[in-house]
Amino acid sequence: METLYVELGERSYPIHIGPGLLRRLPLLLAECDIAPDHPLFIVTDEHVNQRYGSDVQQFLKDAGYKVGKSVVPPGDTSKSLHVLEHLVTDALHFGLDRNGVVLALGGGMIGDLAGFLSASYMRGVRFVQLPTTLLAHDSSVGGKVAVNHPLAKNVIGAFHQPVGVIYDTTTLATLPKRELTSGFAEVIKHGLIRDVTLLELLEEKRDQLVGLESPYIDRAILKGCRIKAEVVSRDEKEHGLRAVLNYGHTIGHAVEALADFGRLTHGESIAIGMVGEAMIGERLGTVKEDIVTPTKELLRAYGLPTTLPPYLAETDILARMYHDKKNRSGKLVMVLPTGWGQVDIFPNIPDDTVLDVLRQLKDE
Ligand SMILES: NC(=O)c1ccc[n+]([C@@H]2O[C@H](COP(=O)([O-])OP(=O)(O)OC[C@H]3O[C@@H](n4cnc5c(N)ncnc54)[C@H](O)[C@@H]3O)[C@@H](O)[C@H]2O)c1
Ligand SMILES: [Zn+2]
Repeated sequence: METLYVELGERSYPIHIGPGLLRRLPLLLAECDIAPDHPLFIVTDEHVNQRYGSDVQQFLKDAGYKVGKSVVPPGDTSKSLHVLEHLVTDALHFGLDRNGVVLALGGGMIGDLAGFLSASYMRGVRFVQLPTTLLAHDSSVGGKVAVNHPLAKNVIGAFHQPVGVIYDTTTLATLPKRELTSGFAEVIKHGLIRDVTLLELLEEKRDQLVGLESPYIDRAILKGCRIKAEVVSRDEKEHGLRAVLNYGHTIGHAVEALADFGRLTHGESIAIGMVGEAMIGERLGTVKEDIVTPTKELLRAYGLPTTLPPYLAETDILARMYHDKKNRSGKLVMVLPTGWGQVDIFPNIPDDTVLDVLRQLKDE
């Protein structure tokens, strides 16, 4: 097991990564000051529950904890106020009090939903992230929690840090292939924004990583979490630096929304976004070397797309990019590469450059 810390003063917390950690949950919870006199309320979805729900519940009961559980349907539609209300009902019936702890057992959807439950239930109770998807190496760290509104994603939310992240990497073995591929896009993103050693690992150990071989997969997750943890420690509430985590997302979010959520996964959309944003960086001269070619090669090696689907119009994508929260005074702000494994934040991105690149991104 590897451990690193998100440094946030009194609210600092550990991230434990390794195979078989769910079995060691009672011990790891005890280290986070969660003793058996604290009621535990597991939130999970049907897929994850089928595979891991009963085991986790049993390990904890055997260790003397009082454990409740609520299972929601899989998919982002469960990240809603409606489902949140059900969870509150279940938590009240179970007897979750201020001493209680919410356990988010699942991918990013569960992390966000259970995290928001814990941020709002009785004005805030503690929660622990138990990620089970590769994408969740990103979403489980940093304390952004939210549910969706029919008009916009993640608009009802909070900053609420977990008291620990316990990442059992063996759970990834049952993840559907497309979800795994999508998760690799965020791992690649972490390399591209800050860590050449992660990029090397991704390039050199592709087969081992895709095959989820230890210790490579654990190491890649560790490096990804470390970057997220460092950025969050320096800018918890996204006043500036934290925006670098959004590399590939300005174009990616627009593509994801316009393709109709689900047709392209989040990871596939940001893969296309990272190629587009690298091309914009080259056009505007923020980066002098060719990073478009190696970016594409790396993404393709992991089965991710690098071109825009022909059914999306450039002008629609650009219009949608203006919804991005990073924008200032009606001008596009984007995260662009400054080198291989380096990015920065740039204001006033001209529309014609974006349109040109989007056109080229479709043709290739
Ligand atoms: N808070 C943040 O900082 C942040 C960052 C990125 C994304 N997110 C959010 O994360 C969500 C997406 O997360 P996700 O990609 O993990 O999706 P997800 O949680 O919906 O999981 C994807 C699918 O995999 C299934 N699954 C999960 N773990 C499994 C396992 N081990 N074995 C088999 N099946 C498993 C789930 O049931 C689901 O069907 C979105 O809601 C997004 O907004 C949040
Ligand atoms: Zn993302």
